[in-house]
Amino acid sequence: MSVIDRLNLRGEGVAPGLVVARALPGEEVGGEAVDGRIAQPKILTPSPDRVAAPCRHYKACGGCALQHASDAFVETWKTGVVRQALAGQGLEAPFRDTLTSPAGTRRRATLAGRRLKSGALVGFHGRASDTVTAIPGCTLLDPALVAVIPALEALVTEGGSRKGEVRLTVTRYAEGVEVSVDEGKPLDRALRLALPQIAGAHRLARLVWNGEVLLQEAPPSLTMGRARVSPPPGAFLQATPQGEAALKAAVIEAVGGAKQVVDLFAGCGTFALPLAETAEVHAVEGAAPMLAALDLGWRNATGLKRVTTEARDLFRRPLMPDELKRFDAAVIDPPRAGAEAQVAELAQAAVPVIAHVSCSPVTFARDARVLVGAGYRLDWVQVVDQFRWSAHVELVARFSRAHMA
Ligand SMILES: C[S@@+](CC[C@H](N)C(=O)[O-])C[C@H]1O[C@@H](n2cnc3c(N)ncnc32)[C@H](O)[C@@H]1O
Repeated sequence: MSVIDRLNLRGEGVAPGLVVARALPGEEVGGEAVDGRIAQPKILTPSPDRVAAPCRHYKACGGCALQHASDAFVETWKTGVVRQALAGQGLEAPFRDTLTSPAGTRRRATLAGRRLKSGALVGFHGRASDTVTAIPGCTLLDPALVAVIPALEALVTEGGSRKGEVRLTVTRYAEGVEVSVDEGKPLDRALRLALPQIAGAHRLARLVWNGEVLLQEAPPSLTMGRARVSPPPGAFLQATPQGEAALKAAVIEAVGGAKQVVDLFAGCGTFALPLAETAEVHAVEGAAPMLAALDLGWRNATGLKRVTTEARDLFRRPLMPDELKRFDAAVIDPPRAGAEAQVAELAQAAVPVIAHVSCSPVTFARDARVLVGAGYRLDWVQVVDQFRWSAHVELVARFSRAHMA
């Protein structure tokens, strides 16, 4: 028998010398340990935070990691992950109440597909395994994504290889669902005919096969502030509409009345376009097609202030202090690896306010150390849980120059 001390960063229970799947702090557990891991624990004394998983697939499916824990527990745990990362850098901050996206709202996800002797299997990978679990009753995904699973199965039956898996990235847009398939069979004449027919029959908004657009009924679009944006295939989008709204509200509040804002790692304009209702915005991003979508959205919108765009690799060529000095606020939303080089320049430039959006508490805390070391104050942290039931943590934090706060 072992007692769980804490969760690791994958959301698994940790007892002395053991990792225990799907166990919560304080629980007494038993079961067979293989290589220091109990995969199927017997929960001898359940935690008061343990709940019945809402999804019928949870036992087998690895798509979610924390459905056995109450929402209140997960919120406290995710906040704790950020607090600990900051403490590791000698920092602390006021935390706002976590904002968690509701069940059934994930509008973007990557599923796995495997062709079978007859038909195909599409779903999430199983728990700690490379098997694929079917998820017709998934409680995580937007129902529109669950509804396209038969289309995905038909696509994999036609264009999946028996040798390996295909990756299916599904995104819900206003016009319907975009399906982007990677690791599909190379396109030949027969597939070029068959795959669009399947997509058409299932009314997919766009089908992308190994990076090539095979069918696009109407350009899929979504609203960003007053603009309507048509992201390019496979573009980054925030995972849920509610998560996007929460991040956006926190960013807008953080930059306050700034009139000149630089949006670093701007994507298709999630923050730049809403901010342009009150400020001139310079949007910088590595992927030129996403910036082109942002620019077109801005040009077709009315009532927005000027938005300029710049395609630039911010890891290799961060904006330098002399380029940053004209801005009175910066938004920075880097990928998981963080933005070490750009944050070093921001710290030098002393832009008065920074809204830092992050999906990695560890790289966020490292950046926070640099900014605080350069004289910024960490005003608050807002955890936004749009990856409900997973171990991912996202946040917005406001930094201001101490003498201007
Ligand atoms: C977390 S996303 C944020 C996008 C946008 N702020 C949003 O909320 O939709 C990170 C963005 O960084 C971009 N990116 C990744 N590496 C980059 C680099 N080295 N230089 C510039 N942009 C990069 C990606 O294309 C992606 O759009």
